[in-house]
Amino acid sequence: MRDKTQDFSTRAIHHGYDAQSEHGALNPPIYMTSTFTFESAEAGGAMFAGEKEGHFYTRISNPTLDHLEKRIANLEGAEAGLSTASGMGAITSTLWSFLEAGDEIIIDKTLYGCTFAFMTHGLPRFGVNVKLVDMTTPANLTEAISDKTKLVYFETPANPNNRLVDIAAISEIAHRASAKVVVDNTYATPVITRPIEHGADIVLHSATKFLSGHGDVVAGLIVGSLEDITQIRLVGLKDMTGAVMSPMTAMLLLRGIKTLELRVERHCQTAFKVAKALEAHPAVLNVFYPGLESFPQHELACRQMSNFGGMIPFEVKGGKAAGIAVMNRLNLIQRAVSLGDAESLIQHPASMTHSTYSPEERAEHGIAEGLVRLSVGLEGAQDIIDDLQAALGAHNMPCD
Ligand SMILES: Cc1ncc(COP(=O)(O)O)c(C=O)c1O
Repeated sequence: MRDKTQDFSTRAIHHGYDAQSEHGALNPPIYMTSTFTFESAEAGGAMFAGEKEGHFYTRISNPTLDHLEKRIANLEGAEAGLSTASGMGAITSTLWSFLEAGDEIIIDKTLYGCTFAFMTHGLPRFGVNVKLVDMTTPANLTEAISDKTKLVYFETPANPNNRLVDIAAISEIAHRASAKVVVDNTYATPVITRPIEHGADIVLHSATKFLSGHGDVVAGLIVGSLEDITQIRLVGLKDMTGAVMSPMTAMLLLRGIKTLELRVERHCQTAFKVAKALEAHPAVLNVFYPGLESFPQHELACRQMSNFGGMIPFEVKGGKAAGIAVMNRLNLIQRAVSLGDAESLIQHPASMTHSTYSPEERAEHGIAEGLVRLSVGLEGAQDIIDDLQAALGAHNMPCD
């Protein structure tokens, strides 16, 4: 469990690792092995029967993954953690572990495009009933939930438009109906929000993003109770998806997480300046940044988040054509999907990450065709603003 006596950064660097148990190596060694030998056939059999602890095959566990899993569980305030090959691997391994034909899952209306595709096109093929609910109003969940509902699933802030969901309110409604709450915490990271502290049961990440921070891995992480994580490890991950993280990737993530708090603080600081500058530009129609007073859920952001994140979705006047033209005029900010990297990245959700939604679904789910999504990197704030200003057209954009 989370050691409350130490700072987040201290735990992000040290938790769960004793160098003396690894020949004094400052960093956990990368156990690049698929299998582990048994001291005897009986010992191997006992491990398979769950009667003896130990590693026997990396699809089930590995010491390098172990270090990472303990660390993310600690940072999220959870009992146990699990690593996966990608964020989608984390999502699918979790859902396959708890759902069967005839069950119901309730999902928020605004989700990452591939998550939305899996939920709305994938799960129904296997007899799972998927209900879409706008969870920004918790009462909508009260109306929709039933005794068939096994899981309630959402992102907060949601990709791509930063819409927030009140984790405590939704968890209370879900738990009254005995449903588990699964939260995708990719955007906030445990630096900004720890959903388990607000009542969620399972938290997952595309660790490809802020947790890694350097755009060099594709990875996923899951945390929750030991019972739930064991179920996901032995069912969804081991037997259904096989979406296992490489020990090499685990090492890169352990390295990235050491600087997570530092990096996220800087992403937030710069994003706040950039959001204010964008809001002041006459060519910009609207900016959806939770830290701005104009953000419709600013009060919830202040209550649930300790900072406002590094993501800025915005629309320029002139819709999609104007947004794309601005993207094409940028020099420093890179045109690329993904987020949370040192480099500032910009993409167009309707034609890229959220092209899995139909135009009608995007309209209904608050994803405007002209929306562009900026992931604010770690470059100097003034340089990012200068690049945007040059692309948007001459107007003095303050950087304060
Ligand atoms: C919020 C969110 N969840 C999950 C995913 C999927 O993660 P991955 O690309 O690591 O499979 C993404 C990817 O962009 C995402 O933005």
